[in-house]
Amino acid sequence: MDQVEEIKKKLDVVSLISSYLTMKKAGKNYKACCPFHKEKTASFMVSPEKQIWYCFGCNQGGDIFTFVEKMEGLDFVGALHLLADKAGIILDRQDFVKKSEKDKYFEILELARKFYAFLLNEHKSGELAKKYLLERGLNQKTIENFSLGMAPDSPEILKSYLVKKGFSLADIEAVGLISKNSSGRVTDKFRDRIVFPIKNTNGKVVGFSGRTYRPAKNPNFTPPKYLNSPQTTVYDKSSVIYGLPEAKEAIREKDLVIIVEGQMDVVSSHQASVTNVVASSGTALTEKQLEILSRYTSNIAFCFDSDEAGNLAMKRAFELSQFSDINLKAIVLNDAKDPDELIKKDPKLWLEAASSPIPIYDFYYSVLMKKNGGGATADEKKKIAQEFIPIISNIGSEIEKAHWIKKISNDLGVNEKYIIEALNKIKRPEQRETGDIDSPAFSIKIPKESLLLTMLVFYPKKMEEFFQKIKIDDLFEEKGKKLYNILFDWHNKGEKENISLEYIKSKVDSKEQKELDLLFFLAMNFFESLEEKDAISDIDNLTSGILQNKKEKRKKEIEIEITSLDKVKNKEKVKELLRELQGLI
Ligand code: UTP
Ligand code: MN
Repeated sequence: MDQVEEIKKKLDVVSLISSYLTMKKAGKNYKACCPFHKEKTASFMVSPEKQIWYCFGCNQGGDIFTFVEKMEGLDFVGALHLLADKAGIILDRQDFVKKSEKDKYFEILELARKFYAFLLNEHKSGELAKKYLLERGLNQKTIENFSLGMAPDSPEILKSYLVKKGFSLADIEAVGLISKNSSGRVTDKFRDRIVFPIKNTNGKVVGFSGRTYRPAKNPNFTPPKYLNSPQTTVYDKSSVIYGLPEAKEAIREKDLVIIVEGQMDVVSSHQASVTNVVASSGTALTEKQLEILSRYTSNIAFCFDSDEAGNLAMKRAFELSQFSDINLKAIVLNDAKDPDELIKKDPKLWLEAASSPIPIYDFYYSVLMKKNGGGATADEKKKIAQEFIPIISNIGSEIEKAHWIKKISNDLGVNEKYIIEALNKIKRPEQRETGDIDSPAFSIKIPKESLLLTMLVFYPKKMEEFFQKIKIDDLFEEKGKKLYNILFDWHNKGEKENISLEYIKSKVDSKEQKELDLLFFLAMNFFESLEEKDAISDIDNLTSGILQNKKEKRKKEIEIEITSLDKVKNKEKVKELLRELQGLI
């Protein structure tokens, strides 16, 4: 990957990141408030010398490629194109040819978007469609924000326009704007419809979704309400998410994305000032879409109408989310079928609903209960348990799991023992590899415990306090434990001068030495520009993080112990455990 190196040589990490963030000089380095997590003091550092960045708040860093990937929500290839453009580097032949073909497609789609928008907003033929949209409550600003348009009721108008602009029929067909009908005639795909341009993450139009807005001319044939562009070279349906370019800032800011079903819901929601909303466009979410959304937030809320049960989209999301750290939530609408309808009643109702998502398990359970008569009969109980137990087996947190075991047991009058047995029978699928797919971008993530211990090397005056608070068994990471022991021994010897890297390295094997080198390189490069008070507060935060983990671990143990004890025979023991649990909350 020579070209990657070439781009890195031409683009300076500091000036690139400066175009996104305001940075302050700090010694040899620069610092800023991290764009990837909320913070008040700056722990995002950039090293011009090493051409890397690192955030000590969220423990991640990398080079210009990883920065752009995260910032723009792109994959490596996307970042490569963006940075190559910035650097004025033409990507190698094969890439270049492909790129120019795609550019041509984007150009056609962009012309079509403008054409449709012109007809809707400025041409007489668009009056009725415009009236329809205004009557549905959209205003002109919203119509323009989302670039809505109108495809007229004439079969070849777009085709002729694009041909006149110099594009071949093959190219127009390749983007799905024309197709051959049964009698062999090549006509426009979208006719007599309002069109919603569909954009990729970069905001480029890749296709359209067209909605009917007046009764069909032929009463014997009702066309589908929505018609969508087909999958094409530029429109990958498994990865495009409607509304993402418009919503991404708000998603990051609110740390939550709301997934609704329809384009109209997205558009009206934006008008009602709820802007962290995207649409799945009536289909179930794919793994790719989930992965893309998780670049912006790990909180994903699905919006359901209250009568909707066992929703396929939700089930699919459940399946997908067990491979990642995603928190699924639900927004339940009580008085409307979709957000658009609710907003029409009163935008405030949607504002409220959108700001109070509930954990998805609660929602799923209530749907199941409702569907099965509240679990009144033995048969209903069995059905609820059968469907819900596999669902809770996916829950990562043991405490949450224990909560559900108890709840099902109480609600259904089934002994917890049987629920636990059933849970144990369910084999969890193998954890999938999460590593980047041969992305040559450089990315680093230091485990929290190693980071903390490394910081102690630089701020040894915090060691005494640290060792008083944290014992070796409180640590989870093997590397953290190893470093702990080395520092602990050294500290106990009462050495006067600072511990040296050489000393630490002499205590580990050669593979670990390499890792330590990287860790210390980063540390030296960055810590010296961290103000002491910020470093101390980072140490304190990381320490309380470990104490918190310790508590959670103990809570988990207690929960498991309680669920496995016979409540009648071990009354006293259970009481004691509950008391301890109370103390931990
Ligand atoms: P809905 O039928 O719920 O429509 O389809 P809607 O979103 O409420 O639309 P309005 O309010 O009547 O205008 C939900 C989504 O499913 C897809 C569309 O993306 C739509 O927004 N859909 C629906 C289709 O692709 N084709 C259809 O024929 C219908
Ligand atoms: Mn609707």
